[in-house]
Amino acid sequence: MRFHFSLNGISFNSPLLVASGTFGFGDEVTDLIDINQLGGLVTKSITLHPREGNPPPRIAETPAGMLNSIGLANPGVDSFIGEILPRLKALKTPVFVNIAGSTLQEYVEVLDKLENTGAAVAGYEINISCPNVKQGGMAFGIDPHTTERLTGSLRKQTDKCLIMKLSPNVTHIEEIAAAAEAGGADALSAINTVVGMSIDVENRTPRLHTVTGGLSGAAIKPIALAQVYKISQAVGIPLIGLGGISNHKDVIEFILAGADLVQIGTINFKQPAAAVRIRGELEVWCERNNIANLHDLKGEMITP
Ligand code: DHB
Repeated sequence: MRFHFSLNGISFNSPLLVASGTFGFGDEVTDLIDINQLGGLVTKSITLHPREGNPPPRIAETPAGMLNSIGLANPGVDSFIGEILPRLKALKTPVFVNIAGSTLQEYVEVLDKLENTGAAVAGYEINISCPNVKQGGMAFGIDPHTTERLTGSLRKQTDKCLIMKLSPNVTHIEEIAAAAEAGGADALSAINTVVGMSIDVENRTPRLHTVTGGLSGAAIKPIALAQVYKISQAVGIPLIGLGGISNHKDVIEFILAGADLVQIGTINFKQPAAAVRIRGELEVWCERNNIANLHDLKGEMITP
């Protein structure tokens, strides 16, 4: 399509990646969508040890979005390397492995194991922003010093594309962004979910077992846009915007606000082929508006 952008030698001809946790490991939807039409795939979070995740209920619908508290359920890095990675290698689409941890050492060990496989992946997205697990990485994402230290440690371990995924649940996201840049990140993704909750008033119980969880979907799009805009004013490294994107205009908003690429998340649960549909919509829009490369609109919002 009319989009060209490279990051760490990876060339993207679509701005649309699928967000962590919304597309599994890419193998649940192969009948529904040609994964090679995606700009990229970010896996669910991988941790050092297998995790069952939180008890149910782990998902709740809200008027304009979804609450979830999965608790980083995943098979663990060894099983990921043994059973899942070989299948991912067959994809032409760039694959980014999302990593979560509760200590710096855990992140380091997971990355070390992945690097030692000679992992045929494009890079890593580091989740420093899970709101649902005590020690789920959020401690890193709310403090600039720990963000910089973690980023710096991981930077030393890999030459692959290193993306830090930022939490919106902070006062000054641009300070965390600047810390990740100082630590050597190649790019940033923003935003992860916003802490939210919902109560069933008939039986007075919370709709999630963990009471609070991460809110995603249309409800958070204006929050995400504002945060992407703030980050883009504060750093020079590439930026991947996400939060409530469901159509081509949402994508263009993020690019105008300063994003280089975007991720499609919650809409994938309703429409697994959303990224392919939106790619088609963008192509039509670019043709109509005589845009040769959609990336040229990065940061081109006209401010009053
Ligand atoms: C989970 C992790 C996240 O990073 C997030 O934003 C929401 C939920 C989880 O696994 O619970």
